[in-house]
Amino acid sequence: MTKRFGKYVALNGISFSVEKGSITGFIGPNGSGKTTTIKVLSGLLKADAGDIKVLGMNPWDNPEVRSRMSVIFDKLYFPQLNTVEDYLYDTASLFDKLDPENVIQEFELCKFRKKKLSELSAGYKQKVQLASAMLNDPELIIADEPTANLDPNARNEFNSLITKLNRRGITFFISSHILSELERVITHVVMINKGKIVASSLMNTFIGEDSENKLLILVDNPQEALKLLSSFNAKAVGAYIEVIGGIREVVDVLDKAKLKIIMIRRSSLDDAFLEKTGRNVQDNF
Ligand SMILES: Nc1ncnc2c1ncn2[C@@H]1O[C@H](COP(=O)(O)OP(=O)(O)OP(=O)(O)O)[C@@H](O)[C@H]1O
Ligand SMILES: [Mg+2]
Repeated sequence: MTKRFGKYVALNGISFSVEKGSITGFIGPNGSGKTTTIKVLSGLLKADAGDIKVLGMNPWDNPEVRSRMSVIFDKLYFPQLNTVEDYLYDTASLFDKLDPENVIQEFELCKFRKKKLSELSAGYKQKVQLASAMLNDPELIIADEPTANLDPNARNEFNSLITKLNRRGITFFISSHILSELERVITHVVMINKGKIVASSLMNTFIGEDSENKLLILVDNPQEALKLLSSFNAKAVGAYIEVIGGIREVVDVLDKAKLKIIMIRRSSLDDAFLEKTGRNVQDNF
């Protein structure tokens, strides 16, 4: 798909697919085109060119596809003076599919049912947003940075809900900057940079392909470690030393030289991202 805003090309002939039943992370730096893509997929924006199919239909020409999917955003953009209960009952009556009472129970919102949306924490607002998305009984949920405003606990809780709903068969397409959080929940990754897709694969392949046995080590004497590990292609990466090799062999070398290992970890989604885009998404904050 291609999308221009005037002369500016926001999406430059991007192409990707999302596996049914997956939790696909859609990652990319600020301004790379994530929200624009999500708006096109949700039928809120018309692409200039492309063959776009969501659940087999072009979302712009077939607005009825919206009855099989839900879209959620970083914030709850609804009348804040409504109570949780009123909001969910109103939404349920629009879709006329599921009993809102079941959703209130399932999302443990009983205690908050009489609270105004404005009185909820950011975490609970997003929980309510996810609950209302469920009232459409969707096959697919598209989420644009749903955890951007949440603290780590709320993010964890939100991501656990996503995992649970996914096990029930709902496909998720979620954009985010918070890669280390996404890493734990997503099965697939689509990465966008400057309006182009730079990677699209299974999560394991994505990290593995980049890292081959890549390890990141934090030691008390990095200069010495760089010398000792030269046969493992050691190089300094920020505070870490990056090496390619087996964990046992590397630890052995450092132990023998009595260097203290503060931390050792495998390359993560953040590192793979950095490698593919040349900068870290979180540098933007
Ligand atoms: N309505 C618009 N008019 C003009 N330019 C736009 C419009 N919407 C988006 N853009 C531009 O298109 C590019 C992609 O924007 P988009 O919002 O899709 O990025 P994003 O990946 O969601 O970024 P962020 O991480 O900041 O949310 C940006 O350069 C943005 O300035
Ligand atoms: Mg955005």
